[in-house]
Formats: sequence, structure tokens, C-alpha cells
Amino acid sequence: MQINVLLSKNIKNHLIFVSLQPVFYNYLSITMESTNKHFKRYTVTTALPYANGPVHIGHLAGVYIPADTYVRYLRMRGEDVLFVGGSDEHGVPITIKAEKEGCTPQDIVDRYHAIIKKSFEELGISYDIYSRTSSKMHRATAQEFFKKLYDEGKFIEKETEQYFDPERQKFLSDRYIVGTCPKCGAEGAYGDQCEKCGSSLSPDELINPHSQLSGAALVKKPTKHWYLPLDQYEPWLREWILEGHKEWKSNVYGQVKSWLDGGLQPRAVTRDLDWGVPVPLENADGKVLYVWFDAPIGYISNTKEICEQRGDDWEKWWKDPETKLVHFIGKDNIVFHCIIFPCMMKAYGDYIMPDNVPANEFLNLENDKISTSRNWAVWLHEYLEEFPGKQDVLRYVLTANAPETKDNNFTWKDYQDRNNNELLAIFGNFVNRTLVLTHKYYEGAVPVLGGLNDTDKAVIEEMNAYPSKIGHLLDTYKFREALSELMNLARLGNKYLTDNEPWKQIKTDPERVKTVMAVSLQIVAHLAILSEPFLPFSAKKLQQMIGLTVKGWNDACETVLLPEGHVIGQPELLFEKVEDRVVAAQLQKLEDTKKANQLNAWKPAEVKQNVSFDDFMKVDIRVGTILECQKVPKADKLLQFLIDDGMNKRTIVSGIAKYYTEPEKLVGKQVCFIANFEPRKLKGVVSEGMILSAEDKDGRLVLLTPSDLVAPGCSVG
Ligand code: 2FM
Ligand code: ZN
Repeated sequence: MQINVLLSKNIKNHLIFVSLQPVFYNYLSITMESTNKHFKRYTVTTALPYANGPVHIGHLAGVYIPADTYVRYLRMRGEDVLFVGGSDEHGVPITIKAEKEGCTPQDIVDRYHAIIKKSFEELGISYDIYSRTSSKMHRATAQEFFKKLYDEGKFIEKETEQYFDPERQKFLSDRYIVGTCPKCGAEGAYGDQCEKCGSSLSPDELINPHSQLSGAALVKKPTKHWYLPLDQYEPWLREWILEGHKEWKSNVYGQVKSWLDGGLQPRAVTRDLDWGVPVPLENADGKVLYVWFDAPIGYISNTKEICEQRGDDWEKWWKDPETKLVHFIGKDNIVFHCIIFPCMMKAYGDYIMPDNVPANEFLNLENDKISTSRNWAVWLHEYLEEFPGKQDVLRYVLTANAPETKDNNFTWKDYQDRNNNELLAIFGNFVNRTLVLTHKYYEGAVPVLGGLNDTDKAVIEEMNAYPSKIGHLLDTYKFREALSELMNLARLGNKYLTDNEPWKQIKTDPERVKTVMAVSLQIVAHLAILSEPFLPFSAKKLQQMIGLTVKGWNDACETVLLPEGHVIGQPELLFEKVEDRVVAAQLQKLEDTKKANQLNAWKPAEVKQNVSFDDFMKVDIRVGTILECQKVPKADKLLQFLIDDGMNKRTIVSGIAKYYTEPEKLVGKQVCFIANFEPRKLKGVVSEGMILSAEDKDGRLVLLTPSDLVAPGCSVG
């Protein structure tokens, strides 16, 4: 068993390890429960993001960063791992986006697949393969999967009445059906959800359902689909998950239990749609596999693709019981990965089941739900552009603040604090002080680790506990805690250095300083190894800086990683301060988003009641030339104009001072005004007319001016 291997190695190397703390025993007992089987290899998958937009920090914190941390750790431990990702390129949101942009769904997925793939690479998400569900391999794999279940009679065939758009001559999926929300009365509610009140709906509940595509009223027509009878798998699911996987995260286990307690229903695995994997049957034109049927098969297709390239056998990654399958997903994907996909694999036969599905909750941004449609997000590709070289800072912050057990919140202030007060002040500071002093005192050569006093021994003992402590937390998907333990090791080093004050002792007790620096350097080296799954870029930089060749995680089980006389390289800073102005700029960006959203939500005012031609003709609108313009004293809002109306000069007062702060610049311009508006006294000035202006979305008033010069006094109509 892995734990025993680690422990006995520790004990063998360092007899001091025997004094385990009681709290540490707890880690062991928890870990033993869930890792008591040793697997030969690991297949690790991450939810395939929809290729209808870029990925944001919510995706990263929920899925991709924990998965990559886990995989990097496993690889360091020498495990055989296949890390599979890819883009989910089917489904209605993609076709809707294409309709909106006037392009094809393929254009949309080509664009976003490229953006997502590149940004994952740059963040260091270390996939073995990142492919896509529009690939040939995927189409063939998904079709074969469906066909086998079909041939073996695993589906129920059912004809139901579905909404049909008579103008477009096609069945409409829920998202394409709009109508009045039965719950809140809002117009434009979708067939699956009202965005105004958030209620989940079915198209039948909508009042006055009509097609979003053509606006036509819908008719119902019969259509045939294939259903996976999930209800038949219920007893098996109960046994496998509720009895067999009590160690799963409580949010995952709880959600599965409530689905099972609610009773499962047969679920349609096909749709009437023209974008997706075609149903591989005769007479199934216009039918595709439901996106949630084909997407998880994407994990298998992508495995096949990489194995074909590598000349490897794909089946061992999915069918050998010695393989541990782990799905990293967000909480909205739990039912698909814990119920539907397992039922599909069970129905197919031969497949292994996931050993764990460590789903995370959601991340909010500045106390508001992340939303693609409202552009309320920190987009990965933008972050990488705006914060070059700072991948590890984002990885750190999103792990330290990961929504592992409940929804969590990302704020730019927290990003700054964690960078400045943790990465920089604890980790970076300890490493830098140690390396700088080693150069200053010994020209970079590591002193002998000797003459240890009790404190030194205790520190070494603590240091030696970290590889298994952090390892066990990673084994049990407790990434936040694991990272916090890593930082505790940095804290240990920082405190040790500060307590021993080598910069003072160098004059009084240089022998003692050798010991202190030797111990500190070993802690730095341990950090260089143990930080690698979390902070891969910084860890590599540090390893290079200190000339440490890392073979794997277990290297950190040795006390002496930097032997006496080993010469370390020149210290460079691992992290730099995040300045206030950087945070302010990001907050401003979000503020601008909020404003833009408000403007986008703007709708023109309702058209007023009709007026007759005769009534309209009563209003005498004319063009005049501005001769003078100035602010009205003691009236913030008012400007006083002197207008040449073609016959006379007339004074008009207008409430637009806020929008024209340099009134003198208006002189010579032409404006439209109502010439027969009843004179009124405003702040002591008699106004002989009304100047016309347009009120913009944001309430800004803009003067109406003819597009060409005309004779003052001419009529408008
Ligand atoms: O929720 C989503 O973003 C889906 N595209 C996830 C699919 S995961 C898997 F099944 F492919
Ligand atoms: Zn509603």
C-alpha cells in the first residue's frame, strides 16, 4: 500500500519520524479508508467545456486546476496516468450562438476550441490529449456506442408529441421555444427556463409558446426517440454508490442520493436537431445523439485518439479493473457523471466505473454569480495576456480559495492579498533569504548538515512529515488543505530562519550559521519538489535555481536533498508584488462591464399614443443658428442660448449644461427648436422656445443638428 511505502521509507531514513502527532494519525486513517486499493494506472478526465465561449476562473477553480494538480502529483509519484480533456462541440447553445452571429456552428466551435486549447496549454494544464467532439474518431466512437446498445435492445423506443415550427419545418429543442413565463409573467421565457425569475420550465408550461427562430406559433407533431431506462439501473446504482462509495465528497454523494430517492426515469438519448452526431440508424434523418450522450463518450474517443498516436492499447485505460478512473467536474455535471454515463457504460458492458467524481461547487466573482452572457467573469485567455508569467499566482489563488465544499468567492483584493502576503511574503521571502545568504556566506556552496540541536531536529522531523501529509490530502482530493500544508512548510522555514537570525550569528557563531543554512536549504529543496503539482512554473524555476534534479515525489522523503558542497545558482525572485493599481484596473474593468450590461438592458420607451397630422402641424419646429451660449448663473443645469431664427434673435434656455461643459464652443452650430412653444421664465430668464435634443441610453442629452447647413428659420417637418 502506498502509505506504508511512504511511511516505512521515512522511518527507515529518519528514525525521528516515529513521533507522529495524533492529528497526523487522523490523516492516515482517512486516507487508508479511501485508498486501500492500489491501482496500476489512472485515467483522469476533466469535463469537456462547451466550445461556445472561452473558459473562466470558475471553470478553472472547479475542474481544471484541481485535476491538473492531481495528475502532476500522480506523475511525480511515478504512476501511469492518462489525462484526458477536450471541447464539447455539440448541443443547442452552440447552434444558438451561430444563429446570433450569422455563422455556422462549426465556425463557432473552431474559434473557441482554439482559444480554450491554447489557454489551457499556457496555464500549464498538462493534458495527454485535448481533442474535440467534432472529430471523426469521436463520431465513430459515439455511433458505435449507441449502435451496440441499440442492437442489444438496451433502449426503449418511444413516440411523443413535440413542438414543431411549421415555418422552418423542424422540431424545436426547449431553448428554441419562447413564451410567457407561467410563474412571473415575463415575456421571452425559454422552454427550459425563465431567465427573469430563474424557474425551471418545460415547454408545455409556457403561455403562448412560439418559435424563437421564425416567431411562428408552434404545432405538436409526433416524433420517435430512444430512451435509456435509467430506472432499471437504480438498484445497481444504489449498491455501487450509496453503499460502495461512502467516501465520496458529501456534496456529490448527497446529490446522487437525492436523485435516486426521487426515482429515476427513462432518459431520451437522441434529439431532433441538425447539429451533433447523427443517429446511426436507417430512417433517422434529422436526428442526432443528445449532447449529454455523446459528450462523455468524448473521453473515450480522445483516449482512442492519443493511444492510436502512441501505439498504445486504449482499452486498458477504460476496461481494466486495475485502472482508477476519476472524473473532475463541476456540481452541475454530477448527475451526468455519477448516474447517466455510468448507466451507459454499464449497459455497454466491460467498462470500469469511476472510482471517484470529486465535483466542486461554484465560484462567484466579486460576490456575484459568474455569467458568460453578462460577461461577468475573469476569462483565462485575457488573464494570461494581462498577467504574463503569472500562471502560478492564479493557480495558487484558485486552489487556496477553491469551492471544494461550498460556493466560494473570488475577489481581486483577495488575489492581491494572497500573492503579496502568502506567495511573496512567506514562500518567496523564505526562499530568497536562504539563497541570498548562502551566496553571501558560502559563495553558493551548501554547508554540511551537522551539529543539529533539538530545535533543528524537530524542524527536520516536521519537514519530513510533509510529503506524506500533502500526498494523502491530494490522494483524497483535498487540494485546499494540501496547499495550505505546503505553505505551512514554507512558514516553518521562514520562522526557523527568523528565529535563528543567521545574519546576526554570523559574527558570533559562524559554525551554528552553517547548520541553520544547511537546514534552511533542505527546506527550500523540499518546497521545490512539493510545490510542483500546485505551482509548476515556480517549482521548475526554483529547482533550476538550486540545481536540483527531481526524479519524483518520493525524493522529498529524503532529508538531505542538497548535499554538502553542492553549489546553487544565483537567486532570482519567484514572485513579485501585485500593486494596488493592478487591482484597481481589474475592478474598473468589471465596473465597465456592469455599465455596459445596464446599457445593453436598455430598451427604447414605448411609442406614445398616435397624433393626427393636424395636431402635428401645430408644432412649429425650425432650425436656428447659435449666436451666443453661456451658463445661467446659479443654475447648474441650464444653458442660455441666443438663436438667430432667420427673422430675429431669440433667447432660449435649455437644461443641457451637464452635457455641454464648454458652451462657447457651440456658437455657430445649428439646432432644431420649437418656435411656438409658450414662453416660460426659467431662473429669471424668459425662454422663447424649446431646443430639441435626443436622450441617449444613459440619459445623456445630445442636441439635434441638421446634417447640412440650412438657412436659419427654415421649417422642420
Ligand atoms: O457543462 C458543460 O460544460 C458540459 N459541456 C460538460 C460536458 S462533460 C462531459 F461529459 F463531456
Ligand atoms: Zn419567470
